[in-house]
Amino acid sequence: MEPNLLLTPGPTPIPPQVNRAMSDGMIGHRSSDFTSLMENVQSNIKTLFGTEEPVAILTSSGTSALETSMVNLVGPDESIVVIVSGAFGDRFKSIAQTYPYDVHVYEVPWGEGVDLQSFKSFLYSKENIKAVFSQACETSTAVVHPLHSLGELVKNYNSDTLFIVDGVSAVGGMQFDMARDSIDCLVTGSQKALMLPPGIAFVAMNKQARKRASQNEISRFYLDINKYFKSLEENSTPFTPAVSLIQGLNQVLELYREEGVEQVYDRHLKMRNMLRAGLKALDFELLVEDDHASPTVTAFKSDEAELSHIKDNLKKKYGITIAGGQKQLKGKILRIGHMGYMFPKDMLTVLSALEAIVSDHRGKKYYGSALTAAQEAYYESI
Ligand SMILES: Cc1ncc(COP(=O)(O)O)c(C=O)c1O
Repeated sequence: MEPNLLLTPGPTPIPPQVNRAMSDGMIGHRSSDFTSLMENVQSNIKTLFGTEEPVAILTSSGTSALETSMVNLVGPDESIVVIVSGAFGDRFKSIAQTYPYDVHVYEVPWGEGVDLQSFKSFLYSKENIKAVFSQACETSTAVVHPLHSLGELVKNYNSDTLFIVDGVSAVGGMQFDMARDSIDCLVTGSQKALMLPPGIAFVAMNKQARKRASQNEISRFYLDINKYFKSLEENSTPFTPAVSLIQGLNQVLELYREEGVEQVYDRHLKMRNMLRAGLKALDFELLVEDDHASPTVTAFKSDEAELSHIKDNLKKKYGITIAGGQKQLKGKILRIGHMGYMFPKDMLTVLSALEAIVSDHRGKKYYGSALTAAQEAYYESI
């Protein structure tokens, strides 16, 4: 009978209002009902991307948006830089290596943010780089990169070099302003901070990027972003969209309006601060330093046996699901997602369960310690 708590960094819980909106009943995607739905979605979604431009919606997972950004913005034989700081930077690299590009990989130790001086030397040692690709939040390590400084650095290198950002675990959970941060293209998926089921992906581009996309000669069909922007002129999509998810999205945007976008971002920061304080009080080492700590996901370290005990017991005894590490961090960290339909009280729930599990496992009493630290962090931040 006890409800489960899904604290993975995607997919994330769906608000009941959104579930209801998704079962409102099907509408034809070539009908005026759909056109007005899309019109509403477009007028409300731009603020989450920090853009005045339309946001294209694809019926596919986040990876398709990563690939779309690449195949539309990089032409054959062009040189690009891909920042790899975890599993999703690796994903960008793999996509890049699928196409006829000249790919330069800038490696960042997993768990760290980009070091700007070192990245600058790397970038300036290359000639004619057409685009730089980075995650906003590298979900596999819980790192947020210094996007504003990175964007500035890219534009100082060459104002024609595009800065392309994977915002999959970030858009909706932290503030974006594409112009301020010199981001030419920002993409995300539905199943993270946006509180929707997996299944749609989003691509926002500024005018410079859209021009590049319209002139690009590389072969593509479903992922040709020009088709999506053309259809959006009539509040439509080139192919059958995931209508129910877009109905859900309309409700998600209403929830943002009700709570206030700034308040939503602030709630994410509070949850991060609570969780970090609570985990430290449980004697866990955090993977990421404060400067690069994500507002949407937090990673902590321990030995493999303890991590596996914690993950299993959270699930078995408390119905709480969290995530393990990926690739080189497998068995080294656990990750708690705190984005979307997630609140400070959920942080208290998981921390109290952790207190009980580690007290029992280590034979040392932690009762109340994580909760006190988390509550102090919460009240300090209001
Ligand atoms: C930062 C980031 N990029 C890309 C992806 C890939 O998205 P998807 O699994 O929806 O294809 C994810 C998924 O977790 C992600 O967190």
